[in-house]
Amino acid sequence: MLVTVSRKAHFNAAHRLNNPELSEAENAEIFGLCNNEFYHGHNYELIVSVRGEIDPKTGYVVDMKWLKDLIKKEVEDRYDHKNLNLQTEDFKNLNPTAEYIAVVIWERLRKHIPNSLTLKVTLYETPRNFVEVGE
Ligand code: NI
Repeated sequence: MLVTVSRKAHFNAAHRLNNPELSEAENAEIFGLCNNEFYHGHNYELIVSVRGEIDPKTGYVVDMKWLKDLIKKEVEDRYDHKNLNLQTEDFKNLNPTAEYIAVVIWERLRKHIPNSLTLKVTLYETPRNFVEVGE
């Protein structure tokens, strides 16, 4: 039987949404307040869900301590209290929308999750706005 286990995590980060291919006016039009050249912050809430069979040896789908440490290393240590545009390699050349942040997190975590398990990343940028990536 397939079982989903999830771990919640959190980070604060600043960003600016801007597409350098577009004019200033177009960026202002598309991204609104998120185009503020002086940046602004969000309290990001992350839910990482791993789905698979229970390992009969441990009774776990995945060791939550291991998952917690993985999220800390791959996400929190990189993004928490950072300016995503200026202080991370991931978003130097990638517009840090919630969509792209979730995709990058999914890609970072996927490399470490066993192939027998599926991975879904849910990222809340605000309490009402969230995106989902993966299975
Ligand atoms: Ni924003």
